[in-house]
Amino acid sequence: LAKKYVRSFLWTKQTTMQFKHPFIVYKPQILKSDDIKLRSEEFYALMKKRRSIRDFSREPIPAGVLENIILTAGTAPSGANKQPWTFCLITNQEVKRKIRSAAETEEKLNYEQRMSDEWLKDLEPLATDEHKGFLENAPALIVVFKRLFEVEENNHKHQNYYVPESVGLAAGLLVAAIHQAGLCCLTHTPSPMNFLCDLLERPKNERAFLLIPVGFASEACLVPDIQRKSLDEILVRID
Ligand SMILES: Cc1cc2nc3c(=O)[nH]c(=O)nc-3n(C[C@H](O)[C@H](O)[C@H](O)COP(=O)(O)O)c2cc1C
Repeated sequence: LAKKYVRSFLWTKQTTMQFKHPFIVYKPQILKSDDIKLRSEEFYALMKKRRSIRDFSREPIPAGVLENIILTAGTAPSGANKQPWTFCLITNQEVKRKIRSAAETEEKLNYEQRMSDEWLKDLEPLATDEHKGFLENAPALIVVFKRLFEVEENNHKHQNYYVPESVGLAAGLLVAAIHQAGLCCLTHTPSPMNFLCDLLERPKNERAFLLIPVGFASEACLVPDIQRKSLDEILVRID
């Protein structure tokens, strides 16, 4: 073990001189096989209880929780470590009202004109429509923005890589962290979402990716009784 550390130390020293960031020894968590299995079961048991909700209570979220959730989302891997995301946290009632109003305008057009019959049929079991009261009732909205590029000091545009993949991963961690904390959310996509960039005065390199109301389910909250695909349906084994 000592040898391993010496080797790793020397390698670290060597690489420190060549790279922008020094290399450090990674200390992963080390668990016994039984504990690994148990933890995977426990996490699955927790995550399978997650549901998207569209009926929020106005109960406030304890201070600091949303910041921790956003920090968790920010731990996602990203193409070339560009971390191409911004999370806009909105609790201001007037801003929420404006977002609801703009989203309902787009969604009315979607339901009445833009969505195909097939799409509308697929949405039928969810009983969704253009009314988006949850955008005002939920105590917080998190708008996830993807950052297409960064603007450097000399005004040079520096490209980000694998942006949708990276931001999708961050959003997945965000949703998992929301659920793990005992809160609920909805991944909402009132398309097109350009109005969010305008309303929230975001810079030109950002595009809205997801609009996520967060809070607690109302007492009368109902969710459709949908089923998730079985392991056989989603897993292909190549042994
Ligand atoms: C990318 C994406 C976009 C979605 N957009 C909407 C939306 O605009 N409105 C809505 O009510 N639900 C939306 N949903 C929620 C899905 O309808 C929901 O995740 C799905 O029905 C499965 O239900 P569950 O999340 O409770 O498992 C979206 C989900 C995803 C992942």
